[in-house]
Amino acid sequence: MGMKNIKINDKEFELFIEAEKIEKSIGRIAEQINADLKGKNPLFIVVLNGAFMFAADLLKKITIPCEITFVRLASYRGTSNTESVQKILGLTESVENRTVVIVEDIIDSGNTLTALIEELKKHHLREIKIATLFLKPGALKYDLRPDYVAMELPPDFIVGYGLDYDGYGRNLIDIYKLKN
Ligand code: IMP
Ligand code: MG
Repeated sequence: MGMKNIKINDKEFELFIEAEKIEKSIGRIAEQINADLKGKNPLFIVVLNGAFMFAADLLKKITIPCEITFVRLASYRGTSNTESVQKILGLTESVENRTVVIVEDIIDSGNTLTALIEELKKHHLREIKIATLFLKPGALKYDLRPDYVAMELPPDFIVGYGLDYDGYGRNLIDIYKLKN
């Protein structure tokens, strides 16, 4: 267990979820995935940077044959000036006719994931499953139903276990939340 309070740049954070609890939640969804996707040879698409630690722990517990790839999302201006579009970088595997599992760190408003799904749908997949470490149901602005949610959280800002504040805190093994 880490320290109870930490400071990142100008902000104070307090210990919120300990590593063992995260690990147990991940074990639970790994079992679900192993059962649901057996025989489907899924392709896991890990969304960098935030999901790297979750993906490593989740995929160590996946026992069915699968492939794993990593993407990054780049925002750019769409056709209309207000529209922000997400472009997927690094998807080299063919996804046509595959079962893909998007591996995300956190779904907050759902904006990022909605854009990613729209992009992926252009590739004629068989089905898209969503695995997320955290979901903030109170912040969700889109009709998204992730298939595998390790933990549901209140809408507080958190860091650790892959998630950052201003680039820092991704290496923490526990989750800390912003003190207010
Ligand atoms: P959304 O598009 O609003 O769902 O936000 C998704 C992205 O915002 C995540 O992939 C994270 O990178 C970031 N994010 C959302 N909430 C948090 C948080 O509490 N801490 C750190 N990053 C967050
Ligand atoms: Mg993310």
